[in-house]
Amino acid sequence: MFRLIYPGSFDPPHKGHLDLIARASVLADELIVAVLQNGDKAGQLSLEMRCKLLKQVCAGFDNVRVRTFRGALADFFSEEKATALLRGLRSADDFGYELPMTVVNRGLKADCETLFLAASPEYSYISSSLVRELLRLQKDVSPYVPECIVPELEDLYQEQAGKK
Ligand code: PNS
Repeated sequence: MFRLIYPGSFDPPHKGHLDLIARASVLADELIVAVLQNGDKAGQLSLEMRCKLLKQVCAGFDNVRVRTFRGALADFFSEEKATALLRGLRSADDFGYELPMTVVNRGLKADCETLFLAASPEYSYISSSLVRELLRLQKDVSPYVPECIVPELEDLYQEQAGKK
């Protein structure tokens, strides 16, 4: 069983995430999209909401599961008996961010390997922070976010802005 774990904050999920999920689901027997429960980053969306949106995004893939994890990713990797972690690379900057995490994860569990997929060029500039900024500005995020979650995301931010 070739089981990949794709970890992240997914705050919110965007088309770059969906691109990676679609491509990895073809490579792996099973793909676990693992949503971080805790960490340094103050999430803009609740864990429940991020999972709900991701489940909608992943609905069309039979071999993709959405899970949450807390604590060390390397421990979750062992619990799930995964083959490797999966991360996306949009740029050389991403590699600088990813490499230390990769090394630390292998330091914690020697078999905790990380595989990288290069982002498709059309998604190489998309980030969750950019999407959050557009949502705060009440601008259209449909070029960047999977169609199925655009209305819910826009509603959420409009509610936060007190417009509903
Ligand atoms: O989408 P992100 O925010 O870039 O994902 C980062 C994530 C969740 C992969 C990373 O923060 C993580 O693995 N956190 C869990 C804590 C951990 O295991 N840290 C050790 C590796 S440095």
